[in-house]
Amino acid sequence: MDISVNPSESALFDGDRLPAGRREAFQLKALRDFTLCLARARDFDESLRLALMVILGTLSIAKGALFLEEEGEYRACVSRGLPPGIPPLETSRELVATLRRSSRTVWLGRREVSGAIRKAVATIERSVPAFPVEFFCPLGTRNGSLGFLALGPALVDGAPTPSQRETLDVMTSILSGHISNHRVVSDIFRLNEVLRLQVGENERLLGGLREIYLDTIRALATAIEAKDPYTRGHSERVARISVSIARRLELPENEVQAIHIASILHDVGKIGTSHSILTKPSSLTVDETLEIRRHPQTSFEILSEIRFPYPDVPQLARDHHEWLDGTGYPNGKREHEISMGARIIALADAFDAMVSDRPYRNSLPLVTALGEIRSCLRRHYDPNVGRMFFQSLRSDLAGDPQEVSAFAGIRKNGSRADAIAFLDRSLQDLR
Ligand SMILES: [Fe+2]
Repeated sequence: MDISVNPSESALFDGDRLPAGRREAFQLKALRDFTLCLARARDFDESLRLALMVILGTLSIAKGALFLEEEGEYRACVSRGLPPGIPPLETSRELVATLRRSSRTVWLGRREVSGAIRKAVATIERSVPAFPVEFFCPLGTRNGSLGFLALGPALVDGAPTPSQRETLDVMTSILSGHISNHRVVSDIFRLNEVLRLQVGENERLLGGLREIYLDTIRALATAIEAKDPYTRGHSERVARISVSIARRLELPENEVQAIHIASILHDVGKIGTSHSILTKPSSLTVDETLEIRRHPQTSFEILSEIRFPYPDVPQLARDHHEWLDGTGYPNGKREHEISMGARIIALADAFDAMVSDRPYRNSLPLVTALGEIRSCLRRHYDPNVGRMFFQSLRSDLAGDPQEVSAFAGIRKNGSRADAIAFLDRSLQDLR
């Protein structure tokens, strides 16, 4: 940034001898240049360099250095007219207290200057050759001291005039605000970065926990399926189809997660059903049917004992055999009494059962199973759920890589083309 300071024009040391109007105009221009250089600098370091240059030019002072407190010492961040490598000045309790007390510029030509400032100036003058410090300007805000400016020698002899002091005080006050703001912004950026790293770490840990949690759930489902060899892999297949439907329905993510867990565990209650009923190759008696129809309620009771992050899981498992017309079980719920998640699991569960081998029959051809589902829409299954299910299966059969995983492991007996044609017709009718 180009800020031109002409010492001969800006000699405020003579300012009090100027006519009052010209003096004030000059003061205003100097302060305007000063605030502009702070605002327009490319970065913080440049803003400090320019600020020092404008102060020196405005007050006709030959040299200067800006010291900022960092880690227990005052470091010269920028200097002008001085050799590089100014050594840091150690902070002392006395100097810090003096800087905190005063925000006014100290002219070293005065007799009554605090011992701490005289000592600090003497140390600087000893360590920096040819730097007779005449002005010592504390930098700070209400929240504490930031550092100071050491300036000298003045190019004009004599004590500074009131307008020189006033101008220097205003400039150092503006500079203090600028430095303080920069520190606040830096702190916010630093804090933000720490938070970002922490959030990333938490997400990683949470992801790990979620995997362990899902593995535990799957292990539980596998233990149940071990009892009934005909349903091996059933829970995982139902879960994949259910999640695909739930996502197409754009359900909130926590609902999708609840549906995922509930569909893996929906048949956990079969642990209470006798093995002979589960594997019976012929029709069930009335008592046997009653026993097997108890499994959703048993699932609910078992899952209610577990503190899931998604509270709907037990209820979703209990209602996975409920139908919209009230002819389902265990509670004969109807329409609005059945949650969307339970409707989804009901359809996915029924479909996978139809296309899987059962003790009492072989798997149905895909088109037959789809015909069965379609004929039961509105009576048993939600038509919206059916539409999303058909769309998802249609994409899978057409080879859409996004859907292939949803129907992985599903038996698709019969002509694929016939199934696609059936789905197209059904989707047309369901519009
Ligand atoms: Fe079931």
